[in-house]
Amino acid sequence: MKKILITGAAGFLGYNLCRDLGDNYSIYGAWHQAEPAAPFEGLVRMDLGGSLKPVAEYIARNGIQALVHCAALSRTGQCAADPVRARRLNIEGTRSLAVIAQAYRIPFIFISTDLVYNSGSGPHLEDDADPRMIYSETKFDAEVEAFVACPSTVVLRCALIFGPDDGVHGSFIRENHTDLCQGKALKLFTDQIRSPVWSRDIAEAIHRIFSQGMRSRIFNVGGSTCINRYELGMLAAQYFDWNRDKLIPVSMTGITADAPWLKDCSLNSARLQNETGWTATPLEKALKQIAAEWTADK
Ligand SMILES: NC(=O)c1ccc[n+]([C@@H]2O[C@H](COP(=O)([O-])OP(=O)(O)OC[C@H]3O[C@@H](n4cnc5c(N)ncnc54)[C@H](OP(=O)(O)O)[C@@H]3O)[C@@H](O)[C@H]2O)c1
Repeated sequence: MKKILITGAAGFLGYNLCRDLGDNYSIYGAWHQAEPAAPFEGLVRMDLGGSLKPVAEYIARNGIQALVHCAALSRTGQCAADPVRARRLNIEGTRSLAVIAQAYRIPFIFISTDLVYNSGSGPHLEDDADPRMIYSETKFDAEVEAFVACPSTVVLRCALIFGPDDGVHGSFIRENHTDLCQGKALKLFTDQIRSPVWSRDIAEAIHRIFSQGMRSRIFNVGGSTCINRYELGMLAAQYFDWNRDKLIPVSMTGITADAPWLKDCSLNSARLQNETGWTATPLEKALKQIAAEWTADK
């Protein structure tokens, strides 16, 4: 069994990957402030803004065989508010981890984003990247730095992610669910198109990449449905028993300064499909399954 260290293990994606990859791998987690809850072989504390020597030593001591880097300053607003910190954590932190992966000759998967596609119409191919926001720039520059430091890096540009999220940070579905349960109305954009992907499908992509020994690649990882945020809310309402009257269709214009860059970040994931045999679970099937798992957990 392969020993994997997942960074950002208490984050939304990190937590879900730890859980979903646990059947096939021994999972080790790197955490920052919030201690992760998933079952782990071991945990190491990590600050992307500080020295990563403890992480390097931990990898050596535990014989870690692969590194999946999810940790990031992950919110566009946080990055815009403090670009210096965003660059330090997202770019320099990623570069330092890639240096470590290269030093130990272990596979390095870097989780990037669909938000590097800030212009033109989707579904975007991997060559379309045109980052225009601080968050997007930091993720794109981090990809470049990762390849320089560790040429065998595999970059996964993930679409808007949804999943069960029992981790410390919830997904947008959980946030929407909580707000709606409290009787709040939700303003959902009609003019932002994404191709939402289930966190479990990202875990499957990672498993295929490891088991097939893929190296030096950039892959889009998106679901098969391109959909705007309002339509997505209306669809999710079916499965999570949301009051549709509380879903308010709105334009991004005037609400977010990033509106010009977020019109269509949908992904064409044919490269990943063709090269690894990966396929995305149909959106409705995935939402239905998550809703069923929530109900079963109650
Ligand atoms: N969510 C999406 O829809 C989406 C879509 C595409 C790509 N992505 C990418 O997926 C990855 C995970 O996103 P997410 O939604 O799971 O974000 P998240 O829930 O905000 O998790 C981010 C993780 O990074 C950790 N972190 C933050 N600052 C750190 C630091 N200085 N040192 C070490 N760790 C630090 C956080 O730990 P603490 O909370 O303890 O600080 C947290 O565990 C990110 O790289 C993001 O760019 C996300």
